[in-house]
Amino acid sequence: MKLGQVRRLPLVSVFAAVLLSCVVTSIAMAEVRITTRGAKRIRKGHLWVYRSDVRDAQGVGGGTIVSVVDEAKNLVGQAFYSDQSEIALRFLSTSREVIDRDWWRDRLRQCAERRSATAKETNAYRLVYSEGDLLPSLIIDVYDGHYVLQALSQGTDRLQNEILELIVEEFKPRSVSERDDARVRQFEGLELRKGVLYGDAPDDIEIHQNAVRFIVSPLSGQKTGAFLDQGENYLAAAKVAHGRALDCFTFNGGFALHLAKSCEGVVGIDISEEAVASAKRNAQLNDASNVEFKTANVFDALREMEAAGERFDTIVLDPPAFTKSRATIKSGARGYKEINLRALKLLHPGGVLITCTCSYHMSEELFLGIIADAAVDARRRLQIIEKRGQSSDHPVLLGVPETHYLKCVIARVVE
Ligand SMILES: C[S@@+](CC[C@H](N)C(=O)[O-])C[C@H]1O[C@@H](n2cnc3c(N)ncnc32)[C@H](O)[C@@H]1O
Repeated sequence: MKLGQVRRLPLVSVFAAVLLSCVVTSIAMAEVRITTRGAKRIRKGHLWVYRSDVRDAQGVGGGTIVSVVDEAKNLVGQAFYSDQSEIALRFLSTSREVIDRDWWRDRLRQCAERRSATAKETNAYRLVYSEGDLLPSLIIDVYDGHYVLQALSQGTDRLQNEILELIVEEFKPRSVSERDDARVRQFEGLELRKGVLYGDAPDDIEIHQNAVRFIVSPLSGQKTGAFLDQGENYLAAAKVAHGRALDCFTFNGGFALHLAKSCEGVVGIDISEEAVASAKRNAQLNDASNVEFKTANVFDALREMEAAGERFDTIVLDPPAFTKSRATIKSGARGYKEINLRALKLLHPGGVLITCTCSYHMSEELFLGIIADAAVDARRRLQIIEKRGQSSDHPVLLGVPETHYLKCVIARVVE
């Protein structure tokens, strides 16, 4: 790699990069002591220790990799330490292995290996899913050879240059950008920023998912450019979709354009004009003439369509997270109930509802309860066809429930 090509990298030499890697290794010697409860949590498979379980972290700098010991001074593992976040430790390893440049290279290679089947089917996928891939707080998405990074903790933020260099060495990307404007960075005391780190990143990139084409804009769109986590749910939805379809919270038309192939007509709705403009452009790109997109608030649109006596055979609900913390679960639940109730009233008998929540705090059990309540109020009997989650390139790590955030329920109105 020519380091000069990396825009945000200082003009460091290879020597400096090697030095940095040595620094990273030696910093692993700093020690943090945690409570028995914290140690138990890690030994049961979780990767986080909260600040309330940190006994002693004196003199440890934020973002460093530390060696973590329990009350009896037994090793628990090695972790990123944050001096700001309530999540004080994010574990990288539970052994004494050396965490150096080669360790990171190896982990990135393993992620790529695990995505090899996905990468044969689509040019857009999540290469690294943070905790799900045992690389806490690091996200790397790929859009047709253009890589987008998110460093969500002080630890990954501090290693950004090194990770960038490894991506360039290992994957020969066309470009690498950062979308470090995710709000969770504020819990870490990190600035919000985005930009190109390496190569030339175009504003618009064409991707394909399940033979549907999309133009995505990693530097300006929502998330890192697309909701890659829904890729496999698009196909599952298309399998049962029929007749007249409604895609609520459509963004760039992901569900709508997949449903277009099996439905007579599809209406896609989003509150964002920018999203609707990109959805329309994607419809043209796919010659999908049976799809129309509207800018509207879904809550209002559902009410208006009900009043106007409109009916559908297929409805998708994929709203933004209505609850982002435990404290707002109740109000979030009201939002989910309302849209599900209204959608159910709009469905013909035999119609299908594809309903999602991307809120970790809304468990599958809770979500199914809300759908059941909505069905009772709408006087509809529902049959669950499938309970799904996020796409397989966003793997759930057993022991870390937070990695399972997306729930997608596909149900049929049987009465
Ligand atoms: C989770 S994303 C949808 C992702 C999309 N279904 C996909 O597969 O790419 C949520 C979308 O809802 C839109 N949105 C948020 N609040 C809305 C509202 N009240 N009415 C309509 N759209 C809304 C956002 O602009 C965003 O595009």
